[in-house]
Amino acid sequence: MAEQNPNNAHAQLENFWMPFTANRQFKSTPRLLAKAEGMYYTDVDGNSVLDGTAGLWCCNAGHSRREISEAVSRQISELDYAPTFQMGHPLPYELAQRLAALSPGDLNRVFFTNSGSESGDTALKIALAYQRARGQANRTLFIGRELGYHGTGFGGISVGGMVNNRKAFSNQLLPGVAHLPHTLDIERNAFSRGLPEHGIEKADALEQLIALHGAENIAAVMVEPMSGSGGVVLPPVGYLKRLREITTKHDILLIFDEVITGFGRVGDAFAAQRWDVTPDIITTAKALTNGAIPMGAVLVSEKIYQTCMQAPEDTIELFHGYTYSGHPVAAAAALATLDIYRDEKLFERSRHMEAEWESALHSLAGLDHVIDVRNTGLIGCVQFAPSAQGAGKRGYEVFTQCFQDGVLVRASGDIIALSPPLILESKHIDQIVTTLEKAIKSAS
Ligand SMILES: Cc1ncc(COP(=O)(O)O)c(C=O)c1O
Repeated sequence: MAEQNPNNAHAQLENFWMPFTANRQFKSTPRLLAKAEGMYYTDVDGNSVLDGTAGLWCCNAGHSRREISEAVSRQISELDYAPTFQMGHPLPYELAQRLAALSPGDLNRVFFTNSGSESGDTALKIALAYQRARGQANRTLFIGRELGYHGTGFGGISVGGMVNNRKAFSNQLLPGVAHLPHTLDIERNAFSRGLPEHGIEKADALEQLIALHGAENIAAVMVEPMSGSGGVVLPPVGYLKRLREITTKHDILLIFDEVITGFGRVGDAFAAQRWDVTPDIITTAKALTNGAIPMGAVLVSEKIYQTCMQAPEDTIELFHGYTYSGHPVAAAAALATLDIYRDEKLFERSRHMEAEWESALHSLAGLDHVIDVRNTGLIGCVQFAPSAQGAGKRGYEVFTQCFQDGVLVRASGDIIALSPPLILESKHIDQIVTTLEKAIKSAS
């Protein structure tokens, strides 16, 4: 039996230790969702809640898509599970081909995982395997970035730069990691529309780190093209290109974590294409299956793959993988999802709605306590000055008020992040912005 929290009128919630949640606070005033369709959730009391966050940046095609649930149910009754270690079944091969066709450059080799965290750790391991395979086993250092989020594996939290995710584990993080400065610069860039103008020089810090550690010791630089969990931190104009130039010059791999920017979120299949920078590896998850079934994928360049394939043909080239890599049901969900993205032109739709989204969000700029509004693609964020009651209180207040008023937004400290499904229409933009405005005005 779980010990009861005396403040908790909802005893049946006790046993689930919820992730990234203030468990006791949540369980005393829970928000429980029961159903979802299109742009809306319905909570357990029957209230409709507009999804301003695509779940957790997952459901780009909107909720409960019949095409996906039918594909899943067909697949589970036909072939529920099959191993992919020294065995195979057709779907992940087909899915890998489809993903290769969507990827930039020659990123046409695909390693399947079950989550963004696993994709991050897989990418780091592939980077090390590649360096070793080409005779540069010294290259083991990773360079991440402050405020970066690459999931919760030890690799991800080490290369990531989210202080709270690292603090409790700090004595056991990967030893060889350095960090670039983050690119958030509200002083110079507040209320920018789209990518901020100032900050390309933050990429030059990479040259300094390379001078300090020696290029011959560095395996890879890993960044999100746009940091979501760190607080919607956008790349300044020219910044990603500069990172690419420097990594190429020093023969260091560049990994883009596109777990949230992939699949149309910024108006292209990947941010790499939107911002015209081709990395060596891309990590994905979330919207790959529209969030319906857990799955991730790591897209790897031909050069890396071929370098890792030099041992005799009967040798396992990479001692890495997951029981569920290329799971048939997840692969069926992903294939159905990619069909929807293609048939409904959702990546283009995201780009098409961007201007309207941007101007609606920036209408919040003059409100009290609002110190920044940021946007790109169908991503948005409103940042508040911390209230006198402490950092994060205002963000949480706005988040709970919006939920009460029927709109799901995401609070991360004093930042409200928005990432609606790409099927969003003008009326949904109105509802999100009007509800936010009211919540911001009533926040203390
Ligand atoms: C950029 C990025 N990478 C990795 C992850 C981790 O994904 P997961 O929670 O599926 O492990 C996330 C999750 O939000 C993310 O935003």
